[in-house]
Amino acid sequence: MIPKACMTVLFVLLLAQAHANTEKVIFVSPPAVSIKTSGPSFEQLHLPHITPEKSSLRLSLQAAFPSERQPRGLDTWYMLRSLNPTQRYEVRVCWAATQPTNFWLDVYNTSHVFDTPDLIQSLAVFAETQQAIERPQSTGSEALEESLLFLHFQAAADFFSTNRTLMNSPPAVDVELILDPYLVNAFPRSLLPTAIYVVALAVGSWILSGMIWKRLFSSTNKPHND
Ligand SMILES: *[C@@H]1O[C@H](CO)[C@@H](O)[C@H](O)[C@H]1NC(C)=O
Repeated sequence: MIPKACMTVLFVLLLAQAHANTEKVIFVSPPAVSIKTSGPSFEQLHLPHITPEKSSLRLSLQAAFPSERQPRGLDTWYMLRSLNPTQRYEVRVCWAATQPTNFWLDVYNTSHVFDTPDLIQSLAVFAETQQAIERPQSTGSEALEESLLFLHFQAAADFFSTNRTLMNSPPAVDVELILDPYLVNAFPRSLLPTAIYVVALAVGSWILSGMIWKRLFSSTNKPHND
């Protein structure tokens, strides 16, 4: 029993360790809305897309030190597109401990962003910086209706250095951004191998402890039989 408990504790510690540099947001995707026939075209914003087909992005993200005007550092915007309507997802950002940064992740539906002055302003500023970047036009989906969300990303550098260059412009942070659908709306798909491993470990150790116990039992009983 003790080794099993130890394994569990160890495993929990490992998990906690692995998640130390992860920030995430869990959400249920909205119903599909009509996008081509009404409202502003999202293509014009030139925002980078994350879709279930292309669900992992490696990025170099600009961060800034918190200031009075930007207490959460620099804003970055993405679009989550071609989502399965009313499915639970999570978006995770992972980064190296060697680049200390605070991240905030929020998802908003389109009407909320367009109705909130602070958000639409931040989105407009970001979209302007994106116009300059040549990005291959995404083919996009041909569907007239689509479940989509805005992903609002804020990155604040969180370190102190005597190096003035670093303090004036913190280096970009290498991150991995992952869109992960939940299986039956309950369990992140990417954690499935871990879950299988834990179950296999539990079943294996249960069988093993049964065998050991049986062997101990039969060896202690032997003198009585002889
Ligand atoms: C400060 O950091 C920059 C960027 O990493 C580096 O190029 C420069 O050599 C550093 N300066 C000092 C004095 O360490």
